[in-house]
Amino acid sequence: MPDQPKPFTVLVTGGAGYIGSHAVLALLDAGWRVVVLDNLVTGFRWAVPAEVAFVQGDIADMDLVGRTLAEHEIGAILHFAGSIVVPESVTDPLKYYRNNTAASRALIEAAVTAGVRHFIFSSTAATYGIPDEVPIREDMPTRPINPYGMSKLMTELMLGDVAAAHPLNYCALRYFNVAGADPQGRSGQSTAGATHLIKIAVEAAIGKRGHVGVFGTDYATPDGTGVRDYIHVSDLADAHVHALDHLVAHPRESLVMNCGYSRGFSVLEVLDTVDRVTNLTIERRIEPRRAGDPDRLVADNSRILATLPWRPRHAELEGIVRDALAWERKLAERSA
Ligand code: UFG
Repeated sequence: MPDQPKPFTVLVTGGAGYIGSHAVLALLDAGWRVVVLDNLVTGFRWAVPAEVAFVQGDIADMDLVGRTLAEHEIGAILHFAGSIVVPESVTDPLKYYRNNTAASRALIEAAVTAGVRHFIFSSTAATYGIPDEVPIREDMPTRPINPYGMSKLMTELMLGDVAAAHPLNYCALRYFNVAGADPQGRSGQSTAGATHLIKIAVEAAIGKRGHVGVFGTDYATPDGTGVRDYIHVSDLADAHVHALDHLVAHPRESLVMNCGYSRGFSVLEVLDTVDRVTNLTIERRIEPRRAGDPDRLVADNSRILATLPWRPRHAELEGIVRDALAWERKLAERSA
């Protein structure tokens, strides 16, 4: 519920994409005025609500960004735009250093020039690489094992230096495995060519694919399959709204925080849950390990719980799967 009038307008880069569009909904629900900047390379114009001003363009276009920041009197940027496919980052690293690192540098410079005070950055658990132990705390070593994680870590490091030199504070949120869709059915994961487990499993459930590959059964986990901390995209979106309130209330403080639930599920547990929710038995095929997959990635979320009034509202895996499934059905109807 909106409480008091908001002091400025928020720019959301990548606001037509999966996580960005959910953040836009959460900001609107909290009463913020929002402008979306998206080049629509992977995002969708229809994912941006009609009441939101939309600018089509690139975050690296400093003239466009500068004009947008001035025209809309932007006080904060939530920066989601970027490339996110880990294997692609290995074969085309310069794309990741361009779209994630260099483009973010340009965006941050435009923000500093325009006097933007607050910056929230989509970071990732991929900044940790293969952790020595789980759950993972924010003060554990960051040793990315792919250019995707490195490109995000480099942006975090830039933000640290910029916040020390200029009147801007920032929050880097390190996402664990984001899944699900808006429980009200307003947005969801829509990009074709899914690689993420829950998306793939619900595609199989509605007949869009014949089976789900299980990538390795010899991991050091209870059932031998990879364990991940799946976070509902709407909880993640809420974390951004709380982080923004915190940055505004503490203008000299910057933060790096994990976004997860401090619990993990194996691949088989996820597939069992999808079977239960759908009343189907989805075919599983055991396949070789995928390169670079750690055994377990689970967040220690005590920092975000201690720092923000954020509390998980959609942490049950069944609910995450149900929302992902409802969205997948909607997408199928849309393309039918
Ligand atoms: N998996 C399968 N079959 C599939 C897809 C995935 O068995 O068809 C397994 C993976 O091997 C892994 C787990 O399911 O054990 C989750 O895999 P995802 O591809 O859904 O997600 P990742 O953990 O590989 O990647 C996610 C984000 C990345 C981020 C990474 C680390 O998508 O952006 O977490 O934070 F870098």
